[in-house]
Amino acid sequence: MRQKRPEDLRSHRWLGVSDLRSFGHRSRLRQFGFDKADWEGKPVIGIINTWSDLNACHAHLRARAEDVKRGVWQAGGFPVELPAMSLSEPFIKPTTMLYRNFLAMETEELLRSHPIDGAVLMGGCDKTTPALIMGAISMGIPSIYVPAGPMLRGNWRGEKLGSGSDVWKYWDEKRAGNITDEDWNQIEGGIARSFGTCMVMGTAATMMSIAEAMGLALPGASSIPAADSSHPRMCSAAGRRIVDMVWDDLTPAKILSPAAFDNAIKVHMALGGSTNAIVHVVAMARRAGIPLDMDRFDAISREVPVIANITPSGKFLMEDFYYAGGLRALMAELRGLLDLSCMTVTGTTLADNIAGAKVHLPDVIHPLSDPIYAGGATAVLKGNLAPNGCVMKPSAADQRLTQHRGKAIAFEDYNHMAREVERDDLDVTPDHILVLKNAGPKGGPGMPEWGMLPIPKKLVKQGVRDMLRISDARMSGTSYGACILHVAPESFVGGPLALVETGDEIEVDVKNRRIHLHVSDEELARRKSAWTPPKPHYTRGYGAMFAEHIGQADEGCDFDFLLAGGPIPEPEIH
Ligand code: FES
Repeated sequence: MRQKRPEDLRSHRWLGVSDLRSFGHRSRLRQFGFDKADWEGKPVIGIINTWSDLNACHAHLRARAEDVKRGVWQAGGFPVELPAMSLSEPFIKPTTMLYRNFLAMETEELLRSHPIDGAVLMGGCDKTTPALIMGAISMGIPSIYVPAGPMLRGNWRGEKLGSGSDVWKYWDEKRAGNITDEDWNQIEGGIARSFGTCMVMGTAATMMSIAEAMGLALPGASSIPAADSSHPRMCSAAGRRIVDMVWDDLTPAKILSPAAFDNAIKVHMALGGSTNAIVHVVAMARRAGIPLDMDRFDAISREVPVIANITPSGKFLMEDFYYAGGLRALMAELRGLLDLSCMTVTGTTLADNIAGAKVHLPDVIHPLSDPIYAGGATAVLKGNLAPNGCVMKPSAADQRLTQHRGKAIAFEDYNHMAREVERDDLDVTPDHILVLKNAGPKGGPGMPEWGMLPIPKKLVKQGVRDMLRISDARMSGTSYGACILHVAPESFVGGPLALVETGDEIEVDVKNRRIHLHVSDEELARRKSAWTPPKPHYTRGYGAMFAEHIGQADEGCDFDFLLAGGPIPEPEIH
């Protein structure tokens, strides 16, 4: 039984009444060549498309929007496509994270200001997924997420190549003189073989999976490789489904419960997902009015082992994950840990969505009884160096470094660090701890993915491939190593990280979730009183607004004004 009648639709106020303004709206639709039969009494479905000529991860979304439209027409809706900022991870400087909230605002305002009844959110490249979802949550109309899907496996001389992860790996081999320029050139040509997102368990694959686990995408959608013919079929199915979601008034608020977020975090842990997801999931939950903090991630990481054998925690790629049964199979394996009563975009529960799902390749998706890493994918550490927390991905680190005490080498900013690590005479051993300051939300600005600090060249030549690194930055989900990230509060605002000096001792104890700077409180107070805040990066424009309103990493890095206050009124139609 439908919850809505045609006259209840938002778009009815634009198109269904008879006045001067609606004359203008309808006459302009006719200018496109549409007629009454195309829109009358039908839900208008806004397809928010993050396609662009500078985002190869989304190169296919231009065509896929047509598949979504086909589904919308089939189900009796009226599709309209609205382009939005693409947030291309490989091209946007200084970092796409500077613009995640920009896209979230754009999504919300595109939906609000137009005659839209339901939204199809097309994204996948890292920040696009949380941004689109944050905007849709705040707008509150029925919305379905369509993941771009991962690209095909990379290939070099018959060897599989994983996005990002193998770039970092072979870059170190090149710095160490172990591969040639021609090898490097061939890797460049073989690592990205099709459209689609990074195909390791990076931020894109993690966030696409999380969106599905939260109930916002069709079952299995997030694992389909972008180049597989199942992908356009999934797109048209999403187009059909959103029309019914509008009639049923199935809004994000009816899907996103605390249990749905817990399910998402459990899936994140089982996947060995990107540390970036912590910031994004906290932000999405807070938009949904659900208080969530990093402690919840830590609690769940102690319960849920890593069972997806995917790079960078494991050895396979997303294409293998799809053949192994994909996210539905992984969730079926986690069945006993998930709340299966959660509602999803299908209008039924998670239990229905994973019914019959099976793991086909047990080497790729392990059983819970034989995890690939039992200790939890993500650890949240606290201590005098990070009073509000910091994160580490022990599943992708040298285990020796999860329990370590060593002397710091402190870098004041990225450029300082980049110069020093190339020095052959740098006074560094594998037991040193590299510390990068001023790379957080305000300091970067935008918390760039600088957290996998390069191993100093001198050590790379000696064969060292991992060491402890600490920063208030993020790291790419494709990265790996003993990197402690998201230190909060950040150094740019005077957090304790700002006070670290070369030679200080730092102790990291992942088992007990502790990080400690072995400097007395008196000495830290003396350093704090001598500390002067760095100059702001921007004095005008979006950057200045960002710096003034951005929250810290543990708060999800949302803008304060997007979290505050009550609902925004519907626009007047006159
Ligand atoms: Fe787009 Fe990795 S660069 S998903």
